[in-house]
Amino acid sequence: MRSHLTLLLMLLGLSLRAGDFQTPYPMIANVQSRTTTDLCGTWDAIVDQYDNGFYNYRMKRNPDGNTFFADRHYYDDRTQLIEYDFNCSDKLRVPGDWNTQREKLYYYEGSIWYRKLFDFDPAPGRRYFVRFGAVNYEGIVGLNGSVIGRHIGGFTPFNFEVTDMLVKGENSLIVKVNNNRHVDAVPTINCDWWNYGGITREVEILDLPETFIRDYCVRLSDDGRSIEGWVQLDGSAAAGSKVSVSIPELSFKAGVTAGSDGKAHFSLKARPERWCPENPKLYDVRIESAQDSVSDRIGFKTISTSGTKILLNGKEIFCKGISIHEEQFGTLSGRAWSLEHARELLGAAKELGCNFVRLAHYPHNENMTRLADEMGIMVWSEVPVYWTISWTNPDTYANARNQVEEMVTRDRNRASIVVWSVANETPRSPQRLDFLRRLIDTVRGLDPTRLVSAAMEIDQKAPDQITVNDDLAAYTDILSFNEYIGWYDGNVDKCRRCRWSFPVEKPVFISELGGGCKYGMHGRPDERFTEEYMVELYKAQTEMLERIPGLAGTTPWILKDFRSPRRQLMGVQDDFNRKGLLSEKGEKKDAFYVLRDWYNSK
Ligand code: GCU
Repeated sequence: MRSHLTLLLMLLGLSLRAGDFQTPYPMIANVQSRTTTDLCGTWDAIVDQYDNGFYNYRMKRNPDGNTFFADRHYYDDRTQLIEYDFNCSDKLRVPGDWNTQREKLYYYEGSIWYRKLFDFDPAPGRRYFVRFGAVNYEGIVGLNGSVIGRHIGGFTPFNFEVTDMLVKGENSLIVKVNNNRHVDAVPTINCDWWNYGGITREVEILDLPETFIRDYCVRLSDDGRSIEGWVQLDGSAAAGSKVSVSIPELSFKAGVTAGSDGKAHFSLKARPERWCPENPKLYDVRIESAQDSVSDRIGFKTISTSGTKILLNGKEIFCKGISIHEEQFGTLSGRAWSLEHARELLGAAKELGCNFVRLAHYPHNENMTRLADEMGIMVWSEVPVYWTISWTNPDTYANARNQVEEMVTRDRNRASIVVWSVANETPRSPQRLDFLRRLIDTVRGLDPTRLVSAAMEIDQKAPDQITVNDDLAAYTDILSFNEYIGWYDGNVDKCRRCRWSFPVEKPVFISELGGGCKYGMHGRPDERFTEEYMVELYKAQTEMLERIPGLAGTTPWILKDFRSPRRQLMGVQDDFNRKGLLSEKGEKKDAFYVLRDWYNSK
């Protein structure tokens, strides 16, 4: 039964929390190591294209008690005017995008309300948080009739404290999800991927002690002779608390005391085996405080540059990569989210001969980065600051910055992460440069141990004389850019004529190249979208790459065909971008073998 106060306030139409939305609680790290209640599975769902469940007919926000968060039931009392009822609504699976679950939701953009009823028995002295792996794009969360808060951004986790809102017995968790695109959003209104809406990753209740280990950083020192970092405690007993960080295999045990801010710093001599693709060494790390303990598997490596070289653990490495969208294999595709999906995607990258993946164009689910740690695959992770962002809108910048902070906070302890990227193909202007410079400063402030970059665009100095003249290149660690010579830019023979030069002495990284074909469609080598054209293109591209001075890596576009509303050639594209080296079902195109053979020759 719900608390009498809640019911009374609902009946009076009063919200427990009026005004604007609370932002999420600071992110709690490594939920896989916590005590949780899994809320994945079948949820009730109500499509609400006009946000009728939230606003009145003048588009003014209703008190919580007059919104769908109240979770009232027409069929329990038909004397009341109630125009919704989750008990007799449709159902949707969580995790999962809604577009591929219902024919009628294939193109749907708007709001869908999700409800999960679950029994709970809160214990005194414990703290509880509801956590979402991701909700695209905006999620407003309510529990037992009251709105808790809102998260914006479709690809990063967030949590809200619900310690004082959970009741013994049945609880009603309701989320209003909206995936409308907006000019001032991040990404903006136009992008080349499907706008999958929904609760696209896992949902759980975290069960934590009153003072718990909220976040931590465990990494190799710059000189490689120590393991250092910090532990952030959260709770009334955080300040002055003792914390230990142990790595049994290294006989490493650091005992430290948290300061008045609840943060404990540590550093202790250690010489761990270095994580690398040939030896993805991970150590069991245990962090303990008076009331809490967390276990993690962490690898230790350094990534840096020297001139035009990328150095992993001080040794030059060539990044044999591939770009990947977060889509599962299958005729329908749809958002990937599970460990199984991650195994399929990263397994295909390995088969291609890759030691590197670019997780485009947004942070992928945590299964991908944790599995990349285990498999020894370096990762480029990025935020969806993509194309024509609203560079002068402070809310847009705050949104982008928040997504950067959430991306880095979630994955700072993942050995596989080597690049944080802040943008993709953004049109040059003073406002864009200012926006991205501040974002780069934010990343470096959060994590000075990875390379920072952005996918820039090329310039043609003279016919077939290619360079990159982007003022952003002064602020990134590598010179990364997308080039489609032979597809958007000329035909295949242009690859053979091109000469390259660069105004900066930095590692050159081609973050996108390629062209497409429909799997199994054959024709002449000069006919677009044929297997033959794609093979000729990849042969000419790989020959051209051999001639590019300072090339340190590449992530051709893209591992598999993926859905995009911008690909309307029926019979060939059918709402798919066909630049995949694999079809949407995972069938290898002929060009797959061209790139694989080139990588295996490196
Ligand atoms: C761009 C963009 C990708 C897009 C690709 C394409 O480079 O970064 O998101 O899918 O081109 O046109 O296929």
